[in-house]
Amino acid sequence: MPNYPTEPLRFAYWVPNVSGGLVTSTIEQRTDWSYDYNVALARIAEDAGFEYALTQVRYTASYSAAYQHESTSFSLALLLATQRLKVIAAVHPGMWQPGVLAKWLATADHLSNGRVAVNIVSGWLKEEFTKLGEPWLEHDERYRRSAEFIEALRAVWTQDSANLAGDFYRLRDFRLQPKPLSWEGRPHPEIFQGGNSTAARINGGRLSDWYFSNGNDFDGVSAQLADLRRVAADAGRIAPPRFGLNGFVIVRDTEAEAREVLREIIAKADVPAVQGFESAVRQAGASTVDRRGMWADSTFEDLVQYNDGFRTQLIGTAEQVAERIVAYRKLGVNLILAGFLHFQEEVEAFGRNVVPLVRELESHAGLAPVPEPALP
Ligand SMILES: Cc1cc2nc3c(=O)[nH]c(=O)nc-3n(C[C@H](O)[C@H](O)[C@H](O)COP(=O)(O)O)c2cc1C
Repeated sequence: MPNYPTEPLRFAYWVPNVSGGLVTSTIEQRTDWSYDYNVALARIAEDAGFEYALTQVRYTASYSAAYQHESTSFSLALLLATQRLKVIAAVHPGMWQPGVLAKWLATADHLSNGRVAVNIVSGWLKEEFTKLGEPWLEHDERYRRSAEFIEALRAVWTQDSANLAGDFYRLRDFRLQPKPLSWEGRPHPEIFQGGNSTAARINGGRLSDWYFSNGNDFDGVSAQLADLRRVAADAGRIAPPRFGLNGFVIVRDTEAEAREVLREIIAKADVPAVQGFESAVRQAGASTVDRRGMWADSTFEDLVQYNDGFRTQLIGTAEQVAERIVAYRKLGVNLILAGFLHFQEEVEAFGRNVVPLVRELESHAGLAPVPEPALP
């Protein structure tokens, strides 16, 4: 039985707020990281049926992405330029005091009529921390810090007076006013959390509203879902977190054309940048005791899309891609996080050609969507 069977599958897209697009390749990418491009994209996306947009947090250039817009300010700009889109701001706990971020998010929530969310990312790029003079914790310690951070956010948002005497953060009778907006089913801004290691799933299963996975095949997704459900049940949660899956989407008129685009992306890979990334990400899940985690078994080809997006195989005709998406939905995936080569035109085409097919297949499969609760 999939998670939350009466809810429609949701769609999110990666906000290209860093330069270079979503693939580390010299292939033409008609995608731009500018504010103007992104505002137009966000408006296209909300009309195309995308419920969420996910920003990326990166403080400095690394293996492509020579330029980066800061994620929280960029998220707010997109929220103010749209009507319905929910924007998920990516943050590194190591760079924030949780009470300050809780305050920032509460204000953004009021300014956007309850549309802000947060993605807690624990960090993989050591240089980003050391260049800012911050300590670089060992992998599982980074996740322990993220867990404390999430607990702090929730405490500040939901309690009159928040107190915490943690290993990483402290709060003393901290009273946040105004609280963020809340209504039934949404007690505070949604907390997403990305990662593929055991530590990431422990945090996701225990604490997050949403768990985000890198691209993965059916077996990999099923194993992660089973793990998350077990952790959530052990923690006494009534329901597991919702599950979001990354996938790089290539929809063309024929499967052969779509495959040819993938071949060209890989043939034109920026080899030194991909190899540099490959060695930097050894700081991630591969460095843990069980060696499970993001990029632990990624090949060179996988890493050309730096979140393993090709592994999800959303590549082919609109019908093939819709069928594969619904197959993931049946396993328990609640959201597809999509990346594209040419964002504006492909997001628009995805809304026109793929989303309606997904809705039809969902309804045939008895996963009939119910209307979303309206925003207040
Ligand atoms: C959907 C998704 C989005 C992510 N976004 C970012 C990001 O914007 N910035 C960042 O530094 N790391 C990001 N990460 C990386 C994770 O926070 C984490 O560092 C990575 O998964 C490695 O840890 P792991 O081995 O525990 O999976 C993201 C991960 C996922 C799955």
